[in-house]
Amino acid sequence: MRKFFFSSLIIIAAVFAFSCNKGSGDEILIGEFGSLTGSEATFGISSTNGLKLAVEEMNNSGGLLGKKIRLITYDDQGKPSEAQTVVQRLIKNDNVVAVIGEVASSRSKAGAPICQQNKIPMITPASTNPEVTAIGDYIFRVCFIDPFQATVVSKFILNTLKLKKVALLKDVKNAYSTGLADFFEKEFRNMGGEIVEVQSFQAGDKDFKAQLTSIKAKNPEAIFIPAYYTDVNLISIQAREIGLTVPLIGSDGWESEKLTEGKAKDALEGCYFSTHVSTENPDPAIQNFIKKYKEKYGSMPDAMSFLAYDAGMILFDAMKRAGTTDAEKVKNELAKTKDYNGVTGKISINEQRNAIKPAVILEIKGGHFKYKETVQP
Ligand code: PHE
Repeated sequence: MRKFFFSSLIIIAAVFAFSCNKGSGDEILIGEFGSLTGSEATFGISSTNGLKLAVEEMNNSGGLLGKKIRLITYDDQGKPSEAQTVVQRLIKNDNVVAVIGEVASSRSKAGAPICQQNKIPMITPASTNPEVTAIGDYIFRVCFIDPFQATVVSKFILNTLKLKKVALLKDVKNAYSTGLADFFEKEFRNMGGEIVEVQSFQAGDKDFKAQLTSIKAKNPEAIFIPAYYTDVNLISIQAREIGLTVPLIGSDGWESEKLTEGKAKDALEGCYFSTHVSTENPDPAIQNFIKKYKEKYGSMPDAMSFLAYDAGMILFDAMKRAGTTDAEKVKNELAKTKDYNGVTGKISINEQRNAIKPAVILEIKGGHFKYKETVQP
């Protein structure tokens, strides 16, 4: 009798847990994976904050298809293997109808095949490596891609800075870094520039002096470093320590308030990087988003916050147009996204499921990011 009582309890508890996980029928479950911890923690935190704003706004204005949206976010700790685990969990255990994520291309590349196999639409807010959306017809992005970013940086170095001899330092453990470095090498040479040295490191390295010394020996006029902020912070300090005084040029992976922490504030003074949005843009959509974000979180949004908000809103818009959360129909509507008015500008999804958008160049001054110029596609 007693045994029977306890096993019934367990069954009831299991059924309860299961039904909670699936969400009651009046909820739409959306999954998100991001690096909430680890050396790219600001990527995950900024993007989930932006996405939560989108969910909150939808729910406050009556929800979606008569239901409330519930967001389930998992931390992948900045590891591709963990990204696979949590995307699997979102789809198999939580039964989400769509996935938003990741910021980093290597982790989007890890999660996307699982979404594709299970036919669950995935939108990456900020992964710029072209291979991410090439994984399949369920995988979308709301940002530009790296062949364009390579052109933007090449033009800026050659035409605005009027520099011709550049060295390249890349992270060989990072699909974004190696991809962007390759596109840049080709494009910069095509446009008449000279690559005087290519050096590499692996994310997490602490000592970059050997690479920087080899670079210095070639007398470049600038160094392009397509990498993430934690490594760039250290690289900039060590570059100055060995007497490399030329400007360091970066890409969207630099964007974090942590980039200029400590001695990097001085080391990166007068350096530049390309990215997706400038918070100095007077466009009311951007300023209004900044106001809402600051009210809720007490900090400034960055590119990933804006892009994740747009990724969420574009997904909800596609579901609205589809009149259902049915994955195939939502995927078809996502593919038809045209001139959507996002906070990051007009978004249209092309045949390769990418967005065609302008880029901005920011200058680092006093540890802050100042608007320099916009480059149209
Ligand atoms: N574009 C980067 C990648 O693909 C991610 C990123 C986007 C980082 C925007 C910062 C800002 O890995």
